[in-house]
Amino acid sequence: EHAARVLVASNRGPVSYAFREDGTLDARRGGGGLVSGLSAIGPETDALWVCSALGDGDREAVRRGIGEPGVRMLDIDAAVHADAYNGIANSVLWFVHHMLYQTPLEPVFDAGFRRQWVAYEAYNQAFAQALAESAAPDAAVLVQDYHLALVPGMLRDLRPDLRIGHFSHTPWAPPDYFRMLPDDIAEQLLLGMLGANRLGFLTQRWLGAFQSCCRRVLADHDVDPHWPKDGPPSLEYRLRGHRRRRTELGVHGLGADADFLRERSRRADVEERMAALREQIGGEERGPGRRKTIVRVDRTELSKNIVRGLLAYRTLLDEHPEWRERVVHIAFAYPSRQDLAVYRDYTAEVSRVAEEINARYGTPDWTPVLLHVKDDFARSLAAYRMADVALVNPIRDGMNLVAKEIPVVSEAGCALVLSREAGACAELGDDALVVNPYDVTGTADALHQALSMPEAERAERSKRLATAATALPPQQWFLDQLHALEALDEGITEAD
Ligand code: G6P
Repeated sequence: EHAARVLVASNRGPVSYAFREDGTLDARRGGGGLVSGLSAIGPETDALWVCSALGDGDREAVRRGIGEPGVRMLDIDAAVHADAYNGIANSVLWFVHHMLYQTPLEPVFDAGFRRQWVAYEAYNQAFAQALAESAAPDAAVLVQDYHLALVPGMLRDLRPDLRIGHFSHTPWAPPDYFRMLPDDIAEQLLLGMLGANRLGFLTQRWLGAFQSCCRRVLADHDVDPHWPKDGPPSLEYRLRGHRRRRTELGVHGLGADADFLRERSRRADVEERMAALREQIGGEERGPGRRKTIVRVDRTELSKNIVRGLLAYRTLLDEHPEWRERVVHIAFAYPSRQDLAVYRDYTAEVSRVAEEINARYGTPDWTPVLLHVKDDFARSLAAYRMADVALVNPIRDGMNLVAKEIPVVSEAGCALVLSREAGACAELGDDALVVNPYDVTGTADALHQALSMPEAERAERSKRLATAATALPPQQWFLDQLHALEALDEGITEAD
């Protein structure tokens, strides 16, 4: 079945299956920035999307032969997947790139870690194998994210004819932090990725960090960055005892899908959710009695900094009592990675702080924080439409698509309070109110400024934000990478 000319590979695929009460399977759309970006590309390019079965529902779907056209789900041993995904990808690589460790105690790279690493290798090998089987001669393979960092190297060994790309949807850690990883592991990760003909990043900043890591970690491999005046940057290196090779590097700042969002957010289910939210917000519908909204929508993810966002809101109510009863913080925090204890604890802390604020400031007629944890895309769009202020304050984030989506959908135009550590800040920084995510006082000040912004200024800025946010829609983002990969000279990996 060497058939596909274009292949995409990622851990999470475009659909996942859950059991209904009667034992049949229900297909749902996958979540997160990667899936949002890639879902738009399927039909036109005729790509085969290779992904992993993630839960029992997915595994059963594979066994029953249920699937979507253009999707190949791999049923990798559940224990191997758990060690690779929860153990290495989400507890180590995600933590490294988002700089999330509390370093006096973590990380600990011991025998348990080494055992999980073996699973991570096996998991990557299973993807490489499946891609090698399914790819037509000279096909283009676009591998996604930190789950699959070893796939490019492994796949190149199996199928030297393929054009292999890899894209990172996360930040990249600077070398001083990245080198926390055991030296052999750090080297294996970088060499795995350099098996690709081309590597993509969301911003120049992450690309630069990757280059610096290569220079420090791969010092023995004679790494040589190239920054030609015209033409893309690349890295050249000589693997011990091998010929020189070259990997091209590129920045592709994934944007919001304006057409999809505008159409989807006008549907009836979104209108219904708006009416329900209006009820919960209370106050008057328009005029001076209308309550303003501060909206955030995230996975309940350690890096999203939801707790400090709530503390900033509490500080706002403390220091600017004039906003009490006049503003509501709509916070949607959808469950994520609940197999990991730190995520469960964090989820509990988010609820605790939200309840504390409501207990302290709430009145019979006003609930200061509306926290919702049940994932509901239509309700997210409803909140986007109603946003006066969008709060996006991650500790560190590859891009953050929510920051791009809200200005596109918000009806009256919104003011955006945005962390300087989000990749999106590189593109939206001029018209956002930019904050240091650790600075709760500063974030509270920015919220006050956002709420106080004159309507005309807010609308102007929001318009410019929406323009910047949609500059590179997902389809184009994907095609740019595909074309860049196809345009590489044959045999570019052998620079000699
Ligand atoms: C980020 C990662 C994606 C991941 C998503 C959701 O956007 O870059 O690769 O799919 O988070 O996380 P999850 O662990 O639920 O797939």
